[in-house]
Amino acid sequence: MAFDLVIRNAALPDGRSGMDIGISAGVIEAVAPSLPDEGGESLDAAGNLVSPPFVDAHFHMDATLSYGLPRINRSGTLLEGIALWGELKPQLDQDALVNRALAYCDWAVAQGLLAIRSHVDVCDPRLLAVEAMLEVKRRVAPYLDLQLVAFPQDGYLRQAGVTELLPRALEMGVDVVGGIPHFERTMAEGAESVRLLCRLAAEHGKRVDMHCDESDDPLSRHVESLAAETIRHGLEGRVNGSHLTSMHSMDNYYVSKLIPLMAEARLSVVANPLINITLQGRHDSYPKRRGMTRVPELMAAGLTVAFGHDCVMDPWYPLGSGDMLDVAHMGLHVAQMTGTDQIRQCFDAVTVNPASILGLEGYGLEPGCKADLVILDAADPVEAIRLRASRLVVMRRGHVVSRSPSRRAEVTLPGRPGIVTFRQG
Ligand code: FE2
Repeated sequence: MAFDLVIRNAALPDGRSGMDIGISAGVIEAVAPSLPDEGGESLDAAGNLVSPPFVDAHFHMDATLSYGLPRINRSGTLLEGIALWGELKPQLDQDALVNRALAYCDWAVAQGLLAIRSHVDVCDPRLLAVEAMLEVKRRVAPYLDLQLVAFPQDGYLRQAGVTELLPRALEMGVDVVGGIPHFERTMAEGAESVRLLCRLAAEHGKRVDMHCDESDDPLSRHVESLAAETIRHGLEGRVNGSHLTSMHSMDNYYVSKLIPLMAEARLSVVANPLINITLQGRHDSYPKRRGMTRVPELMAAGLTVAFGHDCVMDPWYPLGSGDMLDVAHMGLHVAQMTGTDQIRQCFDAVTVNPASILGLEGYGLEPGCKADLVILDAADPVEAIRLRASRLVVMRRGHVVSRSPSRRAEVTLPGRPGIVTFRQG
């Protein structure tokens, strides 16, 4: 078989090295050492890591790059962020929403981030952000898979009219049913929102992804409700719990019952380490809780766990650049996952795991997969995370969509080599 392109001498995330990747018509056709040269193009990976693209399973595209509008979040808290977003919403216009999101998608592509699940606020009676994000989804489709979640930021039951607005957003083309049970007025109404939203998803044949128990409350019980309603509605394997920060603070005996229930429901989990570590524990003096959910324990129980970015330069977070290696780096520190195998698990948490949560088809580096990939300035996933390695080449359907230079410094020290790359050996 003649290939359009062969990527030569690639290291793969599974540890294989010296591999060639043959690509034809935007599809990976072969992965093997020394594929024959049949006159097509070739690209030398030079022993660097070739990975499937990064995937962000939890983001807010309608708020991104709005930092400072209409003012900055002075306390840095979740609740001031929600209040600030409420102030900004009446001022939003569609062009600004679309332009900020498109600018972020440019960043994402440059970072090798080619699939994003974004929540979109459905509490605005105009559904302006929904219209804007659907437009963005259509426009970026050639280079980035954008999946949208109907997110009732101000509460599905708490905010009047949202029980009508959320289904309307689904009819307009939003992909996934969202929720925010811990923000409803009472624990009972939170549980009721979970029940109603899972039923709605089952009726519409949709997946579910809820902000769930994003608090430090050890007695919050919405993860339990989400697992139970998942089973009740036959949604096993199609429901994701985002944040689950309350699990950090829960009683250990209770968690010993909860995690098996989550496994029975085949829930997936997205932790958002950059945001959890900054927004949780705000009512603590010392010691301060980290707030991130129990990532290694959930992984050990067989659940699919991803790390999400959640926010970049918005009412909740002033930092970020769409770099999922930055997210993995923070995640492994917060979870104390510094063993070599655990660091590799953290690489999976920003690649294959979120791809599975989004239900992406043709994702991966096996023959038959779409030729979407990243060549990283690193030998392996551990070095990629350590260096937040440069994305030397980003490829979509076999075409280069971004290039970055490798990281190097020219140092002028007597008797020392002149180039520093931060690579070992
Ligand atoms: Fe979020």
